[in-house]
Amino acid sequence: MNASSPSPAQNQASTATLYGGVTNRRVTVRDLAAAKQRGEKWAMLTAYDALTAGVFDEAGIPVLLVGDSAGNCHLGYETTVPVTMDQMVMLSAAVVRGTRRSMIVADLPFGSYQESPAQAMHNAARLMKDAGVGAVKLEGGERSARSIELLVEAGIPVMAHIGLTPQSVHAFGGYPVQGRGDEAAHQLLRDAKAVQQAGAFAVVLEAVPAELAAQVTEQLAIPTVGIGGGPDTDAQVLVWTDMAGMTAGRVPKFVKQYANLRAVLGDAAREFAEDVRGGAFPAEEHSFH
Ligand code: KIV
Repeated sequence: MNASSPSPAQNQASTATLYGGVTNRRVTVRDLAAAKQRGEKWAMLTAYDALTAGVFDEAGIPVLLVGDSAGNCHLGYETTVPVTMDQMVMLSAAVVRGTRRSMIVADLPFGSYQESPAQAMHNAARLMKDAGVGAVKLEGGERSARSIELLVEAGIPVMAHIGLTPQSVHAFGGYPVQGRGDEAAHQLLRDAKAVQQAGAFAVVLEAVPAELAAQVTEQLAIPTVGIGGGPDTDAQVLVWTDMAGMTAGRVPKFVKQYANLRAVLGDAAREFAEDVRGGAFPAEEHSFH
């Protein structure tokens, strides 16, 4: 190999499919940049515990997000607002321990970065050092650019999140679609460019019209990750409990349910209880003598 030919690792990053080409290491921001270059779309799922994260890692999901959606989907809160740094560190560390190849991105929860870039730095460093994640995510476009810049300067990969930002649920008065109308669309474009300029390696576009998400995706050099952003973003993310049918009640319009885990688990629990009541469990093969 001469100085100008790529190393096997570089070659892997630029020519192989994203996860299929990453066999014995974690996916990196360089792999994601290379995927955008070659037009390869990728999937991201949330994860909040080691076992579920391990299943997604083995299934070839290149990026797992320890989202502060843990608030609603794992910890039983109504919104993401109450989630704390201690909870995010604990959940993120479990997801890191349960995986080998997926890049793990952890959310900075509400109140852990809005005060100042210094506060963002302090808490992002906790997620990197105490939980071992590979990147952090924070909400906000132009308003978060200075914090993103500081983290990136410090060597912390940052995924940005614009459009519908669930930590602002009380300011939005719910979860309305964002970017509708000329002024809102221009603001979304400004936000997208601001986070790219600040050094974010990717940006989540949540609940925005498909045409606008397509426009942002075309204008940015970094990957866009859509959730309710139509088919033209570089990647798609879903909350895993929505995707697998664990969520109770209604799910947002943009969710596709690929399984009905809630029914499967409920049936298993009912059958177990029935076996215990009827004496069918434990059977001889489950007993020690
Ligand atoms: O917390 C989360 O799960 C998220 C996704 C919806 C992108 O931010």
